[in-house]
Amino acid sequence: MTGTETGSDAGSETGSTSTSGSTSGDSETTDVATDEGSEVDDDEPPIMCEPPQRLADAGACTGRIVGVALAANRLGESSYATAAREFNYVTAENEMKWSYNEPSPGRFDFSAGDQVASFAERNGMQIKGHALVWHNQLPGWVESLNSAQAVREAMLRHIREVMAHYRGRVRAWDVVNEAWNEEGTALRDSVFHRYLGPGFIDEAFIAAREADPAAKLYYNDFDGEDLSVKSNAIYEMVRGMVERGVPIDGVGLQMHVRIPDDEPSLEELRENMQRIADLGLDILVSEIDVRWCNGETEEQQAARYHDIIKICIEQPRCTEVTIWGITDRYSWLNVPGAPSCPNGETPHPLLWDDNYGKKLSYDAVMLALQGL
Ligand code: XIL
Repeated sequence: MTGTETGSDAGSETGSTSTSGSTSGDSETTDVATDEGSEVDDDEPPIMCEPPQRLADAGACTGRIVGVALAANRLGESSYATAAREFNYVTAENEMKWSYNEPSPGRFDFSAGDQVASFAERNGMQIKGHALVWHNQLPGWVESLNSAQAVREAMLRHIREVMAHYRGRVRAWDVVNEAWNEEGTALRDSVFHRYLGPGFIDEAFIAAREADPAAKLYYNDFDGEDLSVKSNAIYEMVRGMVERGVPIDGVGLQMHVRIPDDEPSLEELRENMQRIADLGLDILVSEIDVRWCNGETEEQQAARYHDIIKICIEQPRCTEVTIWGITDRYSWLNVPGAPSCPNGETPHPLLWDDNYGKKLSYDAVMLALQGL
């Protein structure tokens, strides 16, 4: 398990920022003499970071990487690409999903995923792989497999081939996504669960570790943020995996939330993160967006973004924050059928408005990432 290494990764990024500046304004003439006083330096408060220019720089202040979900077909739009360069971590919003990269059995097509990956690499951004085993955006041919052997072969081949293609390029994979039902009362009735039983999850992680031993391996789900039947189920599941020695490195809390301060409750979010951290696992805020519905204000949205991300920053094992898109104009929540506002209002859930103006939420995230 690589879990323990991650905590120190987070720290080392912090250490590399802004260390060259003078630590006190009092005298430049004492430059040579100050070397002798190095014990004194140890007692000095940590050096504050430079005023960040980008969201990624704000995250570097606290040793976090800051991600965004990108769509390949928007990368040619210059305002979109400019905003994307604020981040140093990229999830393909759709293009690395099964329906895109293995549309028919054994015929792999990485073209769309590669567009997103190349954009990330050209811009010095790390890449998150999303998602290997998921009941959604699954091609029909997988859904219609009808034996344990066929499902197992398809699942393992998919994991092996996709991870081999991106080996060395992807920092982390969501290996299993949304295995629990909405309420967390049972594992969903996916083709994987139906034919392989609950063990499909262990099998997927074991295959993933073999396919790319250097990649971090995550379980990712929604509505498991605060203390609830569902977060308990996820917690017990990953606790069992850790106990059995199944290779898992972290738990993604998707964090598709609304403004009102009840789900997740901040206190419960803190507790839930802590119990996951106590298992030696990392926690990711993996897909945050905050729906701004009727009657609520932009200030409230900004406060909600701030408060949730601040909880992550206060938890040393919460290592990544990813925002689920750039501009409100293209949010997945605008599309009919998405979990949106109760009366069908436009949710405006992101950090840039429809015309790429930075919203109050942008400033709020900038502060929270610095731990402010
Ligand atoms: C969403 C994308 O944003 C949409 O464009 C697509 O139509 C459906 O999927 N949980 C996940 C993500 O893990 O993959 C989903 O992304 C949002 C919910």
